[in-house]
Amino acid sequence: MALRVLILAAGKGTRMNSSKPKVVHSLLNKPMINYVLDSVEKLKPQKTYLVVGYKKDLIENAVSPSFKNVDYIFQKEQLGTGHAIKVSKNVIEKYKGDVLILNGDCPGVLPATLKRLIDKHKKEKSAVSLITAKVSKPRGYGRIIRDNKGNISKIVEEKDSTSLQKKIDEINSGIYCVNSEFLWTSLSKIKSNNKQNEYYLPDIIENAVNSKKNVSVLKVSNADEILGINTRQELSMQENIIRENTINKLQRKGITVIDRATTYIAPDVKIGKDTVISPNTYLYGNTTIGGECTIGPNVYIENSKISSNVNIRFSSYLDNCKVDQNVTIGPFAHLRPEANIGKDAKIGNFVEIKKSDIGTGSKVPHLSYIGDATLGKGVNIGAGSITCNYDGVNKHRTDIGDDVFIGSDSMLVAPVVIGKGSTTAAGSTITKDVEEFSLAIERNQQKIIKGWNKRKKKD
Ligand code: UD1
Ligand code: CA
Repeated sequence: MALRVLILAAGKGTRMNSSKPKVVHSLLNKPMINYVLDSVEKLKPQKTYLVVGYKKDLIENAVSPSFKNVDYIFQKEQLGTGHAIKVSKNVIEKYKGDVLILNGDCPGVLPATLKRLIDKHKKEKSAVSLITAKVSKPRGYGRIIRDNKGNISKIVEEKDSTSLQKKIDEINSGIYCVNSEFLWTSLSKIKSNNKQNEYYLPDIIENAVNSKKNVSVLKVSNADEILGINTRQELSMQENIIRENTINKLQRKGITVIDRATTYIAPDVKIGKDTVISPNTYLYGNTTIGGECTIGPNVYIENSKISSNVNIRFSSYLDNCKVDQNVTIGPFAHLRPEANIGKDAKIGNFVEIKKSDIGTGSKVPHLSYIGDATLGKGVNIGAGSITCNYDGVNKHRTDIGDDVFIGSDSMLVAPVVIGKGSTTAAGSTITKDVEEFSLAIERNQQKIIKGWNKRKKKD
């Protein structure tokens, strides 16, 4: 489809009262701008441009690197939405076709709705088309002014509106599909003689009407989708709408969510059937969870891949890790980036794992730190054992073979190799490689001083 997209994100977002640009603020831990890009990229446009200005580096950092089709246009001074498009002219002027324009502060918009707008625009051979909706609180939005036949005649911004116009509850979404030739001629006519001394993009509507061009209006029944975010209140309200919609979708697919009020699941998270999500659980980023799992209560998982039939128990925290089938994690476990837990393994309470492969059926049940290590199959790590992976300058690896038994309170000073089938004695500090099937013991002899306690009492 010959389509180019312009997303406006150069403004500061003054009403957020923030030192960051508005569109980098997150909903369910995902920056606002990535929601808009997600929807837009589903339309497979030739190119998507982000118009940036205020603290543009922060926006470029927030945009997910998975969006390969995005270019940036710099609007040095923010003189209004119309001006933002004007500065884009020399970048895309050669392109002839439809341009989809939307605000970067509209994370709820669905690709199907954008598609409906474009289809209507093409079918009605319009110069410009836009999405509107009736809302209960129109304050702050541009109002749709219709003539006595009910046709759109113009858009009036809140600050320029009369008290009568303020009562109009049909609002401009800030989402337009515009024919490129019309866009450039129309923009050249826009003036900034309004209350905000800004060039208003919505003025192209009145311009189209005056020059007898077709204008299509797609009035959507669900206004939630097109709500713009200007304030922190609106940010949390829209987050809640997206959160509720995501939970609805999952529940329809056969996932149990016990407490909707305290469950935060980002829209990209995929979950299999018959998984049960307990209260106060956060599932963020690019996370997938298989079927028949139990998650929570009080669990945080981000950018992780969890297989089926996994049990992640109370107060566990997982970030960028992989967990295979039939594994139990927690309670109170911390899986850090690149923890890779094999099938049937068990990670118990107060255990931290980082950048380590844990083999099939291996167990790290209590109070351990495993970092930069490889554990084979059927390994048992006794309580309180630690891989000492850091010498203060460099990180070193620990390699533990199949069926190794690490006695409680073993300190494995890396780099070190513990051969398969071997055992380390409880309380040992292991600094040398251990041969297969042997016992490594590093301990002083125990002394017994007979009657010592009786003597002590007499003193
Ligand atoms: C805008 C519309 C309004 C509509 C509403 C929908 C205008 C004048 N008004 O109002 O009719 O109902 O959106 O949410 O367009 N931006 C730039 N450069 C600028 C100014 C703004 O890139 O010079 C960007 C902002 O960063 C923002 C978007 O454009 O992402 C919209 O600007 P904002 O100030 O939020 O417009 P609204 O007052 O919400
Ligand atoms: Ca806005």
